[in-house]
Amino acid sequence: MNDAKTPLIAAADIENAHVRGMSAYDQRVAEADADYDAYWCERARELLSWRTPFTRGLDESQAPFFKWFEDGTLNVSYNCLDRHVEKGLGDKTALIFEADDGQVTRVNYRELLARTCRLANALKARGVHKGDRVVIYMSMSIEGVVAMQACARIGATHSVVFGGFSAQSLRDRIQDAGAVMVITADEQLRGGKQLPLKAIVDDAIALGGCESVANVLVYQRTGAAIHWDSTRDRWLHAETQNQPDSCEPEWVGAEHPLFVLYTSGSTGKPKGVQHSSGGYLLHAALTTQWTFDLQPDDVFWCTADIGWVTGHSYITYGPLALGATEIIFEGVPTFPDAGRFWKMIEDHRVSIFYTAPTAIRSLIKSAESNESVHPRSYDLSSLRILGSVGEPINPAAWEWYHQHVGGGRCPIVDTFWQTETGGHMITPLPGATPLVPGSCTLAFPGIAAAIVDETGADLPNGQGGILVIKKPWPSMIRTIWGDPERFKASYFPAELKGYYLAGDGAIRDAQTGYFTITGRIDDVLNVSGHRMGTMEIESALVSCTELVAEAAVVGRPDETTGEAICAFVVLKGPRPSGEEARQIANTLRNWVAKEIGPIAKPKDIRFGDNLPKTRSGKIMRRLLRSVAKGEDVTQDISTLENPAVLAQLAQSN
Ligand code: WTA
Repeated sequence: MNDAKTPLIAAADIENAHVRGMSAYDQRVAEADADYDAYWCERARELLSWRTPFTRGLDESQAPFFKWFEDGTLNVSYNCLDRHVEKGLGDKTALIFEADDGQVTRVNYRELLARTCRLANALKARGVHKGDRVVIYMSMSIEGVVAMQACARIGATHSVVFGGFSAQSLRDRIQDAGAVMVITADEQLRGGKQLPLKAIVDDAIALGGCESVANVLVYQRTGAAIHWDSTRDRWLHAETQNQPDSCEPEWVGAEHPLFVLYTSGSTGKPKGVQHSSGGYLLHAALTTQWTFDLQPDDVFWCTADIGWVTGHSYITYGPLALGATEIIFEGVPTFPDAGRFWKMIEDHRVSIFYTAPTAIRSLIKSAESNESVHPRSYDLSSLRILGSVGEPINPAAWEWYHQHVGGGRCPIVDTFWQTETGGHMITPLPGATPLVPGSCTLAFPGIAAAIVDETGADLPNGQGGILVIKKPWPSMIRTIWGDPERFKASYFPAELKGYYLAGDGAIRDAQTGYFTITGRIDDVLNVSGHRMGTMEIESALVSCTELVAEAAVVGRPDETTGEAICAFVVLKGPRPSGEEARQIANTLRNWVAKEIGPIAKPKDIRFGDNLPKTRSGKIMRRLLRSVAKGEDVTQDISTLENPAVLAQLAQSN
């Protein structure tokens, strides 16, 4: 929590900043307050190129299914590529790709457009139409960005699935989206290792339920031998090589679904968050411009993967919509050593760097034990703005990032947002907002963020509560793919007066009104900035029917990953101990990796004869959270039927 003693760090004075000084910030907020619709319409006219101009902004007639700029038409890839080439920027570098092994490939806007068009033509030749869904299961690559842009060009709705998800998770997403095509690679390279992608697509399809998939397009990354089904598998290079370099964009309505991205909720299966074309692109571009103060000469690097929303908004769409030069990095921050990020910033003269607190925390550890991977061993003078995303950044990590990476001179934008919000909701603007370590500061101009109680009533500053966004904004989630009822229930619960429920708790500083996010208020975990539902992991565990009778999953604080997954398991057989317990725990970790993906592996697995439950049979999760943290829970156990079980569950394996 912030209080009056928390140091405010004066905002940097950036001469040509898009938003310079707090008065400029206040003015924009006032404009949005005075005429909300006009404010957003003006931004949409300034930043995007419309084929048919829209005549109105927000349409609330079918709330909470809000629409923006609905009668306007545009094409997202035209906005990201063609218009820059038309303005004479064809030679400007769009992507600087650095491979896992350090090899660098540059692509300018003209080439990126041509590659996008060739792939777009190839997709059409295989019968992919406007509105069809295409699943993209690729690692970080130029081809991954091209695949997304090619879908946008022909009006196909993409659904990118992070390359670390298992065959089972991939199958569920292909099936839920009803994808007609999967675009993948033979393998991916990460940290010097070759990891399969195509083989996982094969496994996913073999699981059944993917009959909608007519073609699997394969980018040849490593040349490894892979299984080939000639009825459906096609090489991407063969499909695109004879295609023309141009492809007329499909002009779509502003509300046309650009993508569906699956994310975890507190219940059930991951939900397909559906985003629009016009409103989404507007906020991706606007936030890239204002939050990062992006200027024409900047070299922008967002280290996220295109499998997450951060990679969508701040790799594929925002920076390209603005004609920026950006880095695409295939590898991992610790290969060949933990100086990789700093070396790349030095080599490419990166000026804006956007990463996750987990990465910073793990690199601090390495830097403190090895001078050669410390940021001070590199020339980081090109940096001017730093960003943080995905989870709260603790003040100590903030200070280190500020001092050692930013040389004490670069503002840090701690950006709070979500898959559902499409772009930043609460964030400092670098040339305007005084900073407080650990606070995401103030709402982006035009975003009506507030803190309320369970009835939707406003809470005063200084009092923690539920974070909501009171007014619809252009890049908000439009629905959950195929499940409008779940959309309403998850984000617009009846008691909250029609406000958007973010799912996070927050508090505003009594003096400054600055926001601090206090963490999820539902059963969603945030491990290394990756979102995971406790229920998903529980279902994965109990699906191991041979071994597991019952399981409960909670999060506990972890120094490096923010939160760690802690699973409490009742086995069908007797409760194991010692070496046997360790072995079964490992079997279960691998099982979860197979069911969901390695990112969902529980760090702790603890065995008990049963789980603590209330008299009505509900698992006492709060108690389990305390046990996971190692807290003394003896005074809470009066209602427990079997207090001895807590001692069992307190033991790690
Ligand atoms: C958390 C990632 C604190 C939050 C863009 C949110 C944050 C969830 C921050 C969304 C931040 C994201 N400070 N917490 N700056 N940014 N979060 O959908 O709990 O993967 O609800 O989107 O991450 O995660 P998602």
